Amino acid sequence: MKNITVFASGRGSNFQTICEHSASGYIPGNVNLLVASKPDIGACGIAERFSVPVYVYAPKEFPSRQDADRALLHALQEHDTDYIALAGWLKLISTDIVSAFPFRMVNIHPALLPFFGGKGMYGHHVHEAVRKSGMQVSGATVHFVNERYDEGHILLQRAVAISTTDTPDEIADRVLKIEHEIYPEALKLLLEDRVHVADNRVILEPAE
Ligand code: GRF
Repeated sequence: MKNITVFASGRGSNFQTICEHSASGYIPGNVNLLVASKPDIGACGIAERFSVPVYVYAPKEFPSRQDADRALLHALQEHDTDYIALAGWLKLISTDIVSAFPFRMVNIHPALLPFFGGKGMYGHHVHEAVRKSGMQVSGATVHFVNERYDEGHILLQRAVAISTTDTPDEIADRVLKIEHEIYPEALKLLLEDRVHVADNRVILEPAE
C-alpha cells in the first residue's frame, strides 16, 4: 500500500476528506503522516481522530530554511512517504523537496487555474478576486507542484456556477464542496497510476 503525506496549515477539511476516502478504500493509499505548520491547527485535531502521526514543520527552530527542509525530507523518508498532497499549505515548497517527489506531489487550489493563482492568491483573496472579476463560474484545480506557486501541470479541474451576487464566502462554500469531490478523485487516479504526462499535458487513463 502506498503512503500519502498531507501538508496542511489550517482547518484541514481537505485533509479530513482524504483520510475518510483512504479509510473507505476509495483512495488506494494510507495516510501515513500530517505535516502541519503549527501544532494547534484544526488539521492536527483531525490527525488525532484518524491516528495519523503529526510532524510540525518549524523553520524558525533551525539555523536556516535549508536545515529545516533537510529535517523534513528526512522525516518523509523515515515514514516511507510515496506521495505528497498539499491541502491548504501556505509556504512555498523548496526545490529539494519538489525534486525528491517528481510528479508525486499535488496541490489543490480553490479556483480554475491558470486564473486566480500565484503568490498572494490564497484563501479569501482568491474568492474576492473571482467576485470582482464578474465571472459566473469558479471551481477547483488539483495540479502537480513545482517550484512556483500554482504553476504545475493541471491534473483535475471542475467548475461550479456562481452568481454575480454571491459573496466571497458563498463562492468559497461552493468551491469547497467541489474540492472535497475532486481531491479524492485525483489521488485515486494518481495512486492507480492512471496519470501520465506527455507533450507538457496530463493524460488521464480511463478506468478499465
Ligand atoms: C482550500 O480552499 C484549498 O483549496 C486551499 O486552502 C483551503 C484549505 O482548506 N489551498 P482546508 O484546510 O482543507 O479546509
